[in-house]
This record gives sequence, C-alpha cells and structure tokens, in this order.
Amino acid sequence: MQQVLNKGQQLFTTVNTGRSRDQETNCHLDTLQRVRRSAVIMKKSTIAIYSSVAIGVAAVLFFQGRSDTGKPTAEISIPQLNGAQTRGKELFDANCSVCHGKNATGSDNGPSLIHKIYQPRMHADGAFFIAVKSGVRAHHWQFGSMMPVEGVEKSEVALIVQYVRALQRANNIK
Ligand code: HEC
Repeated sequence: MQQVLNKGQQLFTTVNTGRSRDQETNCHLDTLQRVRRSAVIMKKSTIAIYSSVAIGVAAVLFFQGRSDTGKPTAEISIPQLNGAQTRGKELFDANCSVCHGKNATGSDNGPSLIHKIYQPRMHADGAFFIAVKSGVRAHHWQFGSMMPVEGVEKSEVALIVQYVRALQRANNIK
C-alpha cells in the first residue's frame, strides 16, 4: 500500500509540475518534498481538483498493484535446459529459490524473476552480479532488502543468469 501511495504521489507531482514522469527522480523523499512545496503555492480550488485526480490515480494503481506485487507467477513454461543452464538451476535452487521460489517464480520472501521488470532491458545481467555480491535495497516490492549471498562465485552467478534468462525467454520475457 505504501508503495502504491508513493506511486500516487509521484503521479500527483507529475500533474502538478507538468513534467513527465521520466524527468522525476525516483527518490520518494524528494518527491514528497516537492509535493509539499508545490502544495503551498497552489490555490485551494486547484488543490481540490488535483486531489481528486490523484485519488483516482491512486485507486487505479492500488487495484493494479494488487495483481502485480511480485508474488508467485502462477504457471510458467519450463524449457529444455542445456548443460550450463542445468548447472545454473542447481545453483539457483541451492542459493536463491528460498526467496525467489521454485523455477524463479517467487515466494513470500522475494519476487518472481519471471516478470517483465526483470527482462534484460530493465535488469541487465550485471544486476544479478551486483545483487549477489552486494545485495539489493528494497525498491520494487514490499519483500524487504536482499542480503548479499555468500559463497557464490562470479562464474556461478553467470550460470544462474543463463538459467534465469532461459526461463524468461520460454515465457516471452526478453
Ligand atoms: C533472503 C532472500 C533472498 C535470497 C536468498 C536471494 N534474493 Fe534476490 N532478491 C530478494 C528480494 C527481496 C529482492 C527484491 C528487492 C526489491 O527490489 O524490492 C531481490 C532482488 C533480486 C534481483 C533484482 C536486482 C535489482 O537490481 O533490482 C536479482 C537479480 C536477484 N535478486 C537475484 C538473486 C540471485 C541470483 C540469488 C541467489 C544467488 C538471490 N537473488 C537470492 C531476496 C533474495
């Protein structure tokens, strides 16, 4: 819900400033400050109109958000795996599936990686190496942060990436 509110606030700011969302920073605190600052300048009537727009947008995002929380992907196609991908699967099952779920479809502890947000264009392979080495600060979902995963070599992450990309491709995430 907090995330949905944040999204609502981001859109709210976009409406206020007339700037595109891309131009906004991702920093929620910054956004909040800007909402406050612009709210002071606005006349009351304008605030009323923009507020109803923002509430509408927040409601839409809320219902969308409920079906897109990074929670387990119901059913996915499992492709034929080659040797490297099979080794990647073993490593994934041993080190990642406790949070990212069986076949990377997510669990209560972490998001499904078979999700368009993790397609190569959005999260390049480098994101996997950084995630394993340094962890990930919670920013997309409500699962909390990912801690660095100890004892997984760079060469092993490369195999995990091959496995996850094979799963993604088989499910039209490319
Ligand atoms: C203890 C739970 C946990 C384990 C174990 C775990 N992850 Fe994560 N991972 C998370 C959570 C939670 C997120 C989402 C953080 C967010 O964006 O809100 C995440 C995010 C990611 C991301 C996205 C990074 C980004 O830049 O947004 C990648 C890639 C990833 N994990 C790969 C892995 C791999 C590979 C392994 C195994 C070597 C692994 N994770 C093990 C919990 C875990």
